[in-house]
Amino acid sequence: MTGTPVPPGAGELDLDPEALRKRALTALLAARARTALLTDSVDDHDLTAQHSPLMSPLVWDLAHIGNQEELWLLRAVGGRAALRPEIDGLYDAFEHPRASRPSLPLLAPAEARIYAADVRGRALDILDTAPLHGGGRPLEQAGFAFGMVAQHEQQHDETMLITHQLRSGPAALGAPEPPGATDAVALPAEVLVPGGPFTMGTSTEPWALDNERPAHRREVAAFHIDSAPVTCGSYRRFIDDGGYTEARWWAPEGWAMVRAHELTAPLFWHKDAGQWLRRRFGVTEPVPDDEPVLHVSWYEADAYARWAGRRLPTEPEWEKAARHDPASGRSLRYPWGDEDPTPERANLGQRHLRPAAAGAYAAGRSPAGAGQLIGDVWEWTSSDFLPYPGFAAFPYREYSEVFFGPEHKVLRGGSFAVGPVACRGTFRNWDLPVRRQIFSGFRTARSA
Ligand code: AVJ
Ligand code: FE
Repeated sequence: MTGTPVPPGAGELDLDPEALRKRALTALLAARARTALLTDSVDDHDLTAQHSPLMSPLVWDLAHIGNQEELWLLRAVGGRAALRPEIDGLYDAFEHPRASRPSLPLLAPAEARIYAADVRGRALDILDTAPLHGGGRPLEQAGFAFGMVAQHEQQHDETMLITHQLRSGPAALGAPEPPGATDAVALPAEVLVPGGPFTMGTSTEPWALDNERPAHRREVAAFHIDSAPVTCGSYRRFIDDGGYTEARWWAPEGWAMVRAHELTAPLFWHKDAGQWLRRRFGVTEPVPDDEPVLHVSWYEADAYARWAGRRLPTEPEWEKAARHDPASGRSLRYPWGDEDPTPERANLGQRHLRPAAAGAYAAGRSPAGAGQLIGDVWEWTSSDFLPYPGFAAFPYREYSEVFFGPEHKVLRGGSFAVGPVACRGTFRNWDLPVRRQIFSGFRTARSA
């Protein structure tokens, strides 16, 4: 990697204050509509119960969404006094680990809804008149605080959808089926990404979070990468070949996890009368062969790749495959170009409650020819979550900085569960390598 600064390129967002105001309003309203669905579709018992020690009660997420919005939009941007200073501690993710949240004196569902709605009303008043042009305070520059808060709510909408998936009982949510493969036959198994430098990260995307910054040049040697995420059908061949019974495919810690928990398949899968079934949002169904595999840990992705004679892509390889445009030498905002996601390009925003078949979304492919990089499933990379050269924490250390280090692996590309405002070619997610309740899959690579 080199530290060469990158000049702002073409393809930036429209930074006109009125366009940004509308963008912020749309993103905030979309997030709240989804939050309402996720929290209105179950009863008060389900809202306050802890469905897994890995997750908060849904009612915690709801009030935490409101509390973060109050902290950043009402207090930091609007200069308002705290509405309910006594609850700040309850909704500080660092004060109380998830497992302990059900025993806190949380706001009851009705109170939490009123609080979040009250904050939202005041936040929209502030958005109406906030100066969103350059020259303002960094938090207000290009409406950053509004974009950050909308992304935060969309992220918790994904968290709450994970809680829905972990919850037992009948289905509470429904959605139309995603599109099938368009021209999967024409899609080669892997595509070549030629060697050479490319621009990683961004300094110009106005709502990019601190860990995506700054843009910098990276040298990446030529490699091949799967044109689609690894499917359930392919993953089943790994299982059938004894993948979970042979230590040689696994990192030592991964093998220890397999043994300790007697893992035999992705989370939510089970075998019945010789057939693999899965539980998905309260419904049991056959595992679909053509769909990207979901709910695998980093260790499982790593073991599959080794079994297949391949490896996981590094984070720079993933981003180069997704963004580098050899024609212009520039990095694109998304694989398909600089335009925002549309339903024709990517499976995002909980529009569907599952990934689309591998080979879907021909309109979303990258210049290298890889598809479904954005949406469908989060993709594990081989890389640790580390700061880019020149990283500066903004606006708070607890968003990214405290998580940097070898214990977290980077996931890229977003899942069907993440909102479009919280997903782009530079967006970075991270988690522990043992985690599999998240909407995680992967694709494999090999050096050229
Ligand atoms: C970026 C998804 C790892 O959920 O822990 C939500 C996002 N940060 N509230 C998380 C986040 C603060 C974060 N991830
Ligand atoms: Fe949060």
